[in-house]
Amino acid sequence: MASFIVKLFFIISLFNVRFASSRMLTSLVQNQLLKYHKGQLLSGKISVNLIWYGKFNPFQRAIVADFIISLSSPATAKSQPTVATWWKTTEKYYHLVNSEKSSTLALYLGKQVLVENYSLGKSLTQKQIIQLASKGEQKNAINVVLTSSDVTVDGFCLNRCGSHGSKSTLVKGKNDKFAYIWVGNSKTQCPGYCAWPFHQPIYGPQSPPLVAPNNDVGLDGMIINLASLLAGTATNPFGNGYYQGPSAAPLEAASACPGVYAKGAYPGYAGDLLVDPPTGASFNAHGANGRKYLLRALYDPSTSKCYTLV
Ligand SMILES: *[C@@H]1O[C@H](CO)[C@@H](O)[C@H](O)[C@H]1NC(C)=O
Repeated sequence: MASFIVKLFFIISLFNVRFASSRMLTSLVQNQLLKYHKGQLLSGKISVNLIWYGKFNPFQRAIVADFIISLSSPATAKSQPTVATWWKTTEKYYHLVNSEKSSTLALYLGKQVLVENYSLGKSLTQKQIIQLASKGEQKNAINVVLTSSDVTVDGFCLNRCGSHGSKSTLVKGKNDKFAYIWVGNSKTQCPGYCAWPFHQPIYGPQSPPLVAPNNDVGLDGMIINLASLLAGTATNPFGNGYYQGPSAAPLEAASACPGVYAKGAYPGYAGDLLVDPPTGASFNAHGANGRKYLLRALYDPSTSKCYTLV
């Protein structure tokens, strides 16, 4: 009984935290920069390695691989605005940091690892996520763990759609570290929480779902969260870069602009997005191989506003 009450209290507190933080947000974004905590930003040539845990088909893997390629290849996108233009907003953070620390960041698609046999089961802890992330490169890397829709992860759908962090490693007696990201496919577990606006929202003002640009609600939702977590990883890779609020649940470059995807956005409305005439899909960025993606606004530290592509 006591443990039930404690658990209930815990759940209620989590809800409070979420509502309190969204109320705080408006004033925060209008008046203040995300605070810089004097640590390193991610820099140099960094491979983005994809670790696929569970069942994903080749079409789904291509949506994510093309997105990573799109971050750095403006020439491969045929029309404006591009994913690469969106990603360039993160450079504004580097410009604000003193010159010695602010070298540039170049991301490229590294290796892909398939773990299709659910070797760690279908219910993962954050520790197991790091264990899976270690299957990527051990340094100069962002190792991205993508979990399929039938896998539950500690905190998934309760208070997060993904997470990021870093891990120190010892390679041949030398200390190294890599950054990691985890994103879950929310399609069957909580699309209204992690794949909005491609699904009816769980709470708040209701709006009809938008058509997903790659015709896959789960994967297009994963792109939104992966893109946000990549921006957070670049600008706050080791927990002492740009963030606001508690370091365990910080607001970062993209999480500081929740629900904002285009000009005219308001709670429950993503903004005035581009629409692909043949499919009716909503998007705001062109990518490699003719892809279209929907990306969250990024907080621009030079204007203290959420920057939207359209
Ligand atoms: C599961 O797949 C991984 C990656 O292919 C492999 O390393 C591992 O040995 C497999 N585990 C089992 C229990 O088959």
